[in-house]
Amino acid sequence: MSSKFSTFICQNCGSETSQYFGRCLNCNEWNTIVEERKKARSKTTNINKSKKSKLFNEIEIETISRFTSGFKEFDRVLGGGIVPGSIVLLGGEPGIGKSTIVLQSAGKISLNEKVLYITAEESLEQVKIRWERLNQNSLNLKIYAETNLSLIIEEIKQIKPGFAIIDSIQAINSDEMESSPGSVSQVRTCSSELQNLAKENNIALLIIGHVTKDGALAGPKTLEHLVDVVLNFEGDNIASHRLLRSVKNRFGSTFEIGIFEMLENGLREVSNPSSIFTNKENISGVTTTITNEGSRPFAVDIQALVNRTFYNNPRRTTTGISINRLHQILAVIEKHVGIKLSEYDCYIATGGGFEINDPSSDLGVAISILSSLKNIPPLINCAFIGELGLSGQVRQASNLRAKIDEAIRLGIKNILVPKTTIEIKDSFQKLILLKEISTINEAMNYALKE
Ligand code: TYD
Ligand code: MG
Repeated sequence: MSSKFSTFICQNCGSETSQYFGRCLNCNEWNTIVEERKKARSKTTNINKSKKSKLFNEIEIETISRFTSGFKEFDRVLGGGIVPGSIVLLGGEPGIGKSTIVLQSAGKISLNEKVLYITAEESLEQVKIRWERLNQNSLNLKIYAETNLSLIIEEIKQIKPGFAIIDSIQAINSDEMESSPGSVSQVRTCSSELQNLAKENNIALLIIGHVTKDGALAGPKTLEHLVDVVLNFEGDNIASHRLLRSVKNRFGSTFEIGIFEMLENGLREVSNPSSIFTNKENISGVTTTITNEGSRPFAVDIQALVNRTFYNNPRRTTTGISINRLHQILAVIEKHVGIKLSEYDCYIATGGGFEINDPSSDLGVAISILSSLKNIPPLINCAFIGELGLSGQVRQASNLRAKIDEAIRLGIKNILVPKTTIEIKDSFQKLILLKEISTINEAMNYALKE
């Protein structure tokens, strides 16, 4: 092997150079550059002369056909199901349940399609033990335990499945690379060869990848542009619920989430998420908000604990909302409600630690804080929706109609919302007591009565 086929690749950020450096020029990490050698390969350029430029009215759009993953929540995140010939990357921390969800899905898909599950991390026996625990049916599902890329490709060519799974990309290796499995160049080479194979044979391919500590997929970011869909499977290892989030989707919207619960016999989909993030207790410091995740609104509790501080600097911690948002809400309360919050510690946690990004949860956070501080429970059976402006006003919320619908579905009787249109007000009359709120003070006076 000649060194003219060498490149030097940073194992942290994936950037390439032609010579060795002690420190990566791109990400500044030390000792992460590794020499990667490739075997010589003759280059053939495939010039396709049949392609020519077209006018819009000459371009025909094919309707995308899809098949179901067997889970409604999984299909939702994919944009309606699995597209034949597409490549999906499923990332997540080790132990979060990637192999479990994929094996359950493989069983369900195999009732209609030929499925090949390639296990590069676990033996056939280990997969079978898991399978028995899941207690499922399968028909056309074959398991293949192998780590060598050439053998895997041969097997896929022979079996010709409609759906194939690689568990995981970090465990397989190509003979063409000298570096060890899991290195950036291995991950990249193996993925691109599998991608070519899948596209040529119209096989839907799901690639599992473990994430590194900082949340980047290993072979950092280098796979994301290659694949059609990037999904993250997340949730903490202690709580039983798991979120499947779409980060990139060529066939559907991103920000969509699917919710699952990890049980003794595998993952169960949660089609009514409001039920697991709310408690319906009427105690001081707890409010309910309706947040929007992807295309679906659901209810989440917001808990606050506000205590006099024993420290020079009051403590502020959050679970589920960003700490900067909390600081901003505290500043608004301090200025416009006139309470000296610098004398108080403040802790915020969302129900189940669910991560809320929707700014319309501000009003719920603010009322939880005031409710804990005053030790008065908020108005009974009430939801709070609205973003808090810096001058103390309650600002518009996205998707308000759907949020109110969800509150009604949950049997919530009161809802505080920003000023809204007559049309919305009329359509919900009699179903819920809709209270329009303009400022934080107005909300406080209405919801926290002694
Ligand atoms: P796994 O799918 O192996 O995770 P990953 O492939 O992402 O590394 O999930 C392993 C965890 O899930 C393990 O801690 C056990 C738990 N588990 C259950 O709670 N119930 C089950 O039915 C199964 C199969 C696993
Ligand atoms: Mg696994």
